[in-house]
Amino acid sequence: MKIALSGKGGTGKTTISAGFATYFSGKGKRVVVIDADPDTNLQITLGIKGEITPLSEMKSLIYERTGVDPENPSPVFKLNPKVDDIPEKFFLKSGNILFGIMGAVKGAGLGCYCPENAFLQALLRHLVLATDDVLILDMEAGIEHFGRGTIAGIDWLIIVTEPGQKSVDTTFKIHKLAKNSGIKNIGIIENMIKDEKEKIFLDNNLNEFKILGIIPYYNKIRESEIKGNLFWENEPAFLKDIEKITDKMEE
Ligand SMILES: Nc1ncnc2c1ncn2[C@@H]1O[C@H](COP(=O)(O)OP(=O)(O)OP(=O)(O)O)[C@@H](O)[C@H]1O
Ligand SMILES: [Mg+2]
Repeated sequence: MKIALSGKGGTGKTTISAGFATYFSGKGKRVVVIDADPDTNLQITLGIKGEITPLSEMKSLIYERTGVDPENPSPVFKLNPKVDDIPEKFFLKSGNILFGIMGAVKGAGLGCYCPENAFLQALLRHLVLATDDVLILDMEAGIEHFGRGTIAGIDWLIIVTEPGQKSVDTTFKIHKLAKNSGIKNIGIIENMIKDEKEKIFLDNNLNEFKILGIIPYYNKIRESEIKGNLFWENEPAFLKDIEKITDKMEE
């Protein structure tokens, strides 16, 4: 299962990414989790200890793999660098979870034609198309991380939506982009639902899309932010919600 999560800022992408990672690793699967949001906090959310350098900042590795001379960088580099050993060697390990941070590519972002981008694209391609690991990608509000060939290998793009017009508008934008990109399945998670009125608002506004499930607003998840403990231990119902959602994805 390869899952990418997108949605407006603050809707719960990172929380739900951590939920998927915890759920699948709890089932004994090897899970690769990638933080692809430059404003990173997935590591803290997952409670994984250790220092990790964002991949885009591993210049000497990137230069070595793409065949660039650091003394004399040339515009010619390998578009297919070796990356299959990267998760094992350079990601943080916590139980069945391997955790990596993409980092920002300076300049034109991931659209740029540069060794950093070629390296990250190759790594994503490898994780999506050449491994059996579960892949969880915590992204920003967009899908520009993917190269054309890679995106078709993603099983699910999940757009996390909260009750509110702005989040709904962003959901429509992302859905449109994703639909034109060749992603196999696009689904919505309605998150932070406080009451029936909020659920009805989202159901009405999103009725043309596939709704994978709803997750209530849990006070205990908020409490965990303050206490600094793992929120799914504080609120076990959350992982039940995730389980229901994965059942729906496997239907
Ligand atoms: N179901 C929920 N119930 C209560 N609080 C939640 C729920 N889901 C997420 N939150 C809280 O909402 C806040 C935003 O969540 P999160 O960081 O996961 O969103 P995000 O979409 O990743 O945000 P960003 O765009 O900043 O990366 C966090 O404080 C998180 O604890
Ligand atoms: Mg986030």
